[in-house]
Amino acid sequence: MSQSRVEIVPVDDEAAFWEDQEALISGLKQSPPRIPPLFGYDDLGSELFEEITELPSYYLTRVEHELLRRNAGEIADRLGSGLVAELGSGNAKKTRLLLAACTDRRPTTYLPIDVSREMLVASGDALTAEFPQLRVRALWGRYEAGLAGLRQRDGDPVVVAFLGSNIGNATPAERTALLQEIASTLRPGERFLVSADLDKPGEVLEASYNDPAGMSAFVRFRQNHLAHLNHRFDGDFVLHRFYPRAHYDADSATVEGHLYATEDHSVWLKDLGIRLDMQRGSSINVGFSAKFHRPQFVAEVSSLGFTLDEQWIDEVWHYGIFLFVRT
Ligand SMILES: C[S@@+](CC[C@H](N)C(=O)[O-])C[C@H]1O[C@@H](n2cnc3c(N)ncnc32)[C@H](O)[C@@H]1O
Repeated sequence: MSQSRVEIVPVDDEAAFWEDQEALISGLKQSPPRIPPLFGYDDLGSELFEEITELPSYYLTRVEHELLRRNAGEIADRLGSGLVAELGSGNAKKTRLLLAACTDRRPTTYLPIDVSREMLVASGDALTAEFPQLRVRALWGRYEAGLAGLRQRDGDPVVVAFLGSNIGNATPAERTALLQEIASTLRPGERFLVSADLDKPGEVLEASYNDPAGMSAFVRFRQNHLAHLNHRFDGDFVLHRFYPRAHYDADSATVEGHLYATEDHSVWLKDLGIRLDMQRGSSINVGFSAKFHRPQFVAEVSSLGFTLDEQWIDEVWHYGIFLFVRT
């Protein structure tokens, strides 16, 4: 077997583990309790997310893929840099289109940042096999740690990409904090490439964030959050006592994925010292996906130290890729 050409650089330290735990505890104390998205992506969670992207009703991956397929050359021209970092890179199947265009134009180093080591190795191996000239230096850890790692760079300008509309998975306060971190990582003139799912009718969104008849990718992905907490914090969630359902809240323009209790019961997370008392029909929030009104999204990002350079919009599905320049 050939050796991997992917360099894996761990960027998180022990302290990060405790920070994650604190974020989880404070999420579980909210009403309804919330499990932050990070806890959905153990190795099994990452595989299950891939299954979601293949559901016929899940338009987001398909639409972004098509936008990148059509516009990768123009985007690569505008990026103008051979150092491309990506937050939450996952399987990088779509980023591949962009990296193909970048390597055609200039020597390129790809710096994927993800908590899933397995995904970093698998995607990095696939990319270096396809593009022998591409260098992959994976930053294994959370977004904040990856960005801190990027701040150590010297010389070459860097592009930060944040695709898959992942920016919508943060709450508004988390989103502001993350955008501020990105702004403070980039130097004036450097670029930020970000995709966002735009506002559309609630029926379309609810059909996309629930399993079509006969399929179970969302059920398993959401229930896996509980299995992950059982495993990591010695918990006793019984998975079949919860069923998942996503609904669209028009006031906050957010799709929320919840797990609803089928009966009254308590759950004990021994290592966190937390007990959850669930009533039949009460829920745990395991997913948050904000949808953006285009001018507001551009104004929000701009207000944090960027100007819009270009945007590529799918007018049918209302989905956009936006290129900003750090001012
Ligand atoms: C929804 S998937 C999207 C993957 C890919 N960008 C795409 O568009 O298909 C989110 C990815 O972000 C990673 N992730 C989620 N939260 C993270 C965090 N706080 N820090 C680092 N990686 C994170 C997950 O491991 C997963 O690979």
